Amino acid sequence: MEISVNEQSTSQHTTPIRVAVLISGSGSNLQALIDAVESQQLPGVELALVISNKANAYGLQRALQHKIPAIYLPWKKREEAEANISSLLKLFQADLIVLAGFLRILSADFISQFPQRIINLHPALLPDNGADTYTTSNGTTIPALRGLHVVKQAIDEGLKYTGSTVHYVIPVVDAGPVIARSEVAIQPDDTEETLQERIKEYEHRLIVDAVRFYQEQKSKEAVQR
Ligand code: GRF
Repeated sequence: MEISVNEQSTSQHTTPIRVAVLISGSGSNLQALIDAVESQQLPGVELALVISNKANAYGLQRALQHKIPAIYLPWKKREEAEANISSLLKLFQADLIVLAGFLRILSADFISQFPQRIINLHPALLPDNGADTYTTSNGTTIPALRGLHVVKQAIDEGLKYTGSTVHYVIPVVDAGPVIARSEVAIQPDDTEETLQERIKEYEHRLIVDAVRFYQEQKSKEAVQR
């Protein structure tokens, strides 16, 4: 329905950025980024590393098929897992960390190591101000759904609209400044599966827009320096 990116850049200079993608499953959003990079839609963006906390995540295969380093890191103890992820992100010199279907909550300590450098894709509409409701572009107010299973929740609550949001990660779960969002209408016959698939179609553009936005911000900063 609607795709909006919060701010458009007029910068001509493009700063190269290295992106790490954290996944737990299918990785269709990772694939959208791979396709965008390979088709020159994200000039200067390099997918440096993919990390999964699940050994059988299909996204790892997607990465390997495109010769992107792909690493399985089990998540047993959070402190240990985060220390390993942090070392890898530094080793691979990741500028931006994209959580694309990564089903683990990162600690405040971890997040503070990468300020304004972690973004998350959340399959529901989140407001700009951390409020409990979101008002759609046609004026409908809906609850801001946070946490897991929000696609099912949108159907169970009989909402007419849901969508997806990309936001910076802060220590509060599914909050943080919004970069971009898409609104998606819920059809009367939607199931969790059909709605999830339709949301993903929007997300595949949204995540590319969000990475471009981040790069444009970096580019502006570089010019100002
Ligand atoms: C997406 O819908 C994302 O919003 C949510 O998990 C899903 C990941 O899908 N956090 P995929 O693994 O990229 O296909």
